[in-house]
Amino acid sequence: MLTVHHLPELRRAVADLRSGGSRVALVPTMGALHAGHMALVDAARATGAKVVASIFVNPKQFGPNEDLARYPRPAEADTALLTRHGCDLLWMPGIDEMYPAGFATNVSVSGVSEGLDGGARPGHFDGVATVVSKLFNQVRPDAAFFGEKDFQQLAVIRRTVADLDFGIEIVGVPTVREADGLALSSRNAYLSPDERKHASALPGALREAKRAIEAGEQGATAAAMASLVAAGFVTDYIELVDAATLGAPQPGQPRRLLAAARIGTTRLIDNLPVAPEFMVKSR
Ligand code: PAF
Repeated sequence: MLTVHHLPELRRAVADLRSGGSRVALVPTMGALHAGHMALVDAARATGAKVVASIFVNPKQFGPNEDLARYPRPAEADTALLTRHGCDLLWMPGIDEMYPAGFATNVSVSGVSEGLDGGARPGHFDGVATVVSKLFNQVRPDAAFFGEKDFQQLAVIRRTVADLDFGIEIVGVPTVREADGLALSSRNAYLSPDERKHASALPGALREAKRAIEAGEQGATAAAMASLVAAGFVTDYIELVDAATLGAPQPGQPRRLLAAARIGTTRLIDNLPVAPEFMVKSR
């Protein structure tokens, strides 16, 4: 696997990958790679495309009191993992390559960016939409692969691609979980052994709330909040939304249950699909 750090090299390397008619798939990441990221690389490879992964810890998507400084950056281990999974090219731009002096553009998506993590982390999705737009213009892939664990991010990126006519296929890949249900995340590395033991309460609360909602029971999200508090979490939100718009659930449309909660100093997010509710109209 070739690793490149500068845009002219990237353009040449992508042109080489395309020679012979191959499609190019992009897997954007911030590094600290785990099996969840590798599921994206594997899914991209399975389409027959040449795979470009990017690693860039994007300062624009971290708030002033967030974990930018302590975000893990294990470059060697990441490179080895990508090589093992057959990634063709690694794009690792430096900060000056991505945001040169004078950089002044912001991609801001209304609607799907508002509420949920958009409410809890002001400016976060502007940072994501801006860097992903840059990555798309740098690599010019045919398709890009993102994890469903960051479900709101996926919705924001789909909106960006549609609104700005990127012409890139966006593929969402199901969340990879530990044996106890905890969604894989680079941030799980922050958990102390005791916090890690309790962290599975988050997927557990979501599973129970999903069951209760699909059974038509009332008070499912309040009960989930209470069970998280009992497990030592401070909850940001647990919300049932329409899976496409992230607005209010619509009869007959796929729904999604999203949650964000902190345990100690670590903020975890997770989500599950919830079956549509079909309203029977009485005559
Ligand atoms: O999901 C991530 O790792 C990041 O938000 C992304 C999409 C690579 C943008 O920095």
